[in-house]
Amino acid sequence: MPINTSRFAGKTAVVTGAASGIGAAIALRLISEGARVAGIDIAAEGLKEIASQHGASFLAVPADVTKESDVAEAIAAAAAEFGGIDLAFNVAGASRVGQIVDLDEADWDFTIDLVQKGVFLCTKHEARHIREHGRGGAIVNVSSLNAHVPSPYGSAYATGKAGVEMFSKNAAIELAASKIRVNAVLPGLVDTPLVAPVMNYEPARDMFLSRIPMSRAATPDEIAGPCLYLASDDASYITGTSLVVDGGWEVSNYPDLTTLGN
Ligand SMILES: NC(=O)c1ccc[n+]([C@@H]2O[C@H](COP(=O)([O-])OP(=O)(O)OC[C@H]3O[C@@H](n4cnc5c(N)ncnc54)[C@H](O)[C@@H]3O)[C@@H](O)[C@H]2O)c1
Repeated sequence: MPINTSRFAGKTAVVTGAASGIGAAIALRLISEGARVAGIDIAAEGLKEIASQHGASFLAVPADVTKESDVAEAIAAAAAEFGGIDLAFNVAGASRVGQIVDLDEADWDFTIDLVQKGVFLCTKHEARHIREHGRGGAIVNVSSLNAHVPSPYGSAYATGKAGVEMFSKNAAIELAASKIRVNAVLPGLVDTPLVAPVMNYEPARDMFLSRIPMSRAATPDEIAGPCLYLASDDASYITGTSLVVDGGWEVSNYPDLTTLGN
């Protein structure tokens, strides 16, 4: 795919979850399109590695997105280093799974804190900094197809991701006056370390792929592209919406009658 190396020239961005998977793909794509990026992640080593390859274009800011003091400090450090923030991508996420009747309170709290509260805390502090310079900006929150489609054993994750979608709509309304657009991206299956247990176990992988009309998982870059689009000037009138990026999974639940003989 041809890359526009100047689409984000002069822009500064915060990306959470930047050490791996979708967050890393967004960070690298932003850098290749001219932006300077502050990568926030709990995995300091992964951030260091990216920083070593991208010099002044990438600032590594290790932080835990579930802790407000961490988030406030990390985003302030990014704003100070870059002289302000224009764009933010809230991507950090993980989950602890289990059937509802067995799920520990601590596992529920871990997942909701990370996928839902983390997005709230980051949006809060990112928006404060974006608002400061008065030029406006954009925030993209990575939710999941599970905001629309429940997953057995994943009640906390699906609930949290549904919350991220609605939170993004609320933020869009509140922040419109500050010229900050807020949208959500809902990926289906993406080949990252997060879903390695599925991708590396053939029977599970086949069950997932059989639900996806495109019969494959997305690459992290195939999620980064739509995220960058929503942050770009091409999306200047788009706010409060959700973009499902799932290879057709959400609309595929009807049985495939075309495989029946006449
Ligand atoms: N991979 C998929 O199939 C898929 C599908 C839908 C949505 N998503 C969502 O996409 C996002 C990125 O996932 P991924 O697949 O790239 O996974 P990943 O595991 O490759 O990356 C997630 C990153 O988040 C970081 N992180 C975890 N907890 C953190 C915390 N408390 N503070 C800061 N950073 C933290 C991890 O260190 C890691 O670098 C997640 O929100 C995930 O829920 C993924």
